[in-house]
Amino acid sequence: MATTRSIARSALRATSSSFKNTATRNYTRFAPVARQTFRQQYRGYADNATLAPTPTPNPTPKAGGSNAWIYGLVAAVGAIGGGTYWFTQNPDLFAEKVKASFVPAFEDYQKVYNAIAKALEEHDEYDDGSYGPVLVRLAWHASGTYDKDTKTGGSNGATMRFAPEGDHGANAGLKAARDFLEPIKEANPWITYSDLWILAGVCAIQEMQGPVIPYRPGRSDRDLSFCTPDGRLPDASKEQNHLRAIFGRMGFNDQEIVALSGAHALGRCHTDRSGFEGPWTFSPTVLTNDYYRLLLEEKWQWRKWDGPKQLQDTKTKSLMMLPTDLAIIQDKKMRPFVEKYAKDNDAFFKDFSAVVLRLFELGVPFTTGKDQRWSFKTLDAQTS
Ligand code: HEM
Repeated sequence: MATTRSIARSALRATSSSFKNTATRNYTRFAPVARQTFRQQYRGYADNATLAPTPTPNPTPKAGGSNAWIYGLVAAVGAIGGGTYWFTQNPDLFAEKVKASFVPAFEDYQKVYNAIAKALEEHDEYDDGSYGPVLVRLAWHASGTYDKDTKTGGSNGATMRFAPEGDHGANAGLKAARDFLEPIKEANPWITYSDLWILAGVCAIQEMQGPVIPYRPGRSDRDLSFCTPDGRLPDASKEQNHLRAIFGRMGFNDQEIVALSGAHALGRCHTDRSGFEGPWTFSPTVLTNDYYRLLLEEKWQWRKWDGPKQLQDTKTKSLMMLPTDLAIIQDKKMRPFVEKYAKDNDAFFKDFSAVVLRLFELGVPFTTGKDQRWSFKTLDAQTS
């Protein structure tokens, strides 16, 4: 299965030569098309996803004995009569009671996952053909504010909804992702924004053919007094010591920094957001290890332009790398991990899933154990 996936994935990669023949922005539309092909050929990709046992809320007790149905009938008639009276007298209280007794289970979260996945397919007019990358960035920026010493920040709270944090320079452009999710929140008011944003990150990664990211709910929304101070997210113009300081504060080591950076296989930089410009790979809506391969295999030079310092590939001049991306191959301790992931997509997927899971759980006071995580099925796996 792993081999089949690797073959399929390499088929999806556009080579730099095929890319050269395509208009700069037009190539970006090929990925969803390729994705359809991938789906038809390799359905059931996530078939072996494991489902952790879901606790059944309020199990219905079974009636026993031969006269049970008579007692049941009498009880039901009584309940309907009494219930109707109670409801007509207290309609608002009734609605409140229904809301309060709703305990969402795995199936409810899978339904929200499906709604996000379908919205991703429907809105292919955005950017490179998918909101997926910007949803991943939203989930990461919600989580990446965590400080392990003060135990502040992290994916609990969804405090980026408020101006003090939403207006941080690093969060420029993420309103697009938050707005994209708003109809899904409206249709499922029981889910918190903070659980929804992380679920959307998980969904986007899986639907863009990345690995399964196990998930558990438990985040609550907080008010603006929990907004984190500016400066907790990485500055792309810096080097490896900055990365170590920022990711070390979250509790991550060198290997994990490199594994997380592979997310830059997805999406692009926007001049009106970060000031940088362009995608890292030729298939920005499909997760692959191409970020590492291109970082090592292409020749990179500093781009001559008015914008901030960024690298450009010498062959097609259409790809970019940030100074922080360059830093991970210049650093002697980080580079071996780049080499490992460039060679082995399965190793990248395994480590990426493990580290993203940790990232997305930073700062959350879960009441469920680590053995209670769920793995969602992709839309493909459900239709195969
Ligand atoms: C290593 C430190 C990192 C730096 C300095 C950095 C910096 C940036 C910058 C400058 C952009 C462009 C934003 C724009 O103009 O739209 C970007 C985009 C992105 N980043 Fe990072 N990032 C880092 C780590 C990560 C991590 C850990 C993840 C996820 C696990 C991630 C996921 C993404 C994605 C998916 C995009 C594309 C967004 C889009 O297409 O709209 N980044 N990043």
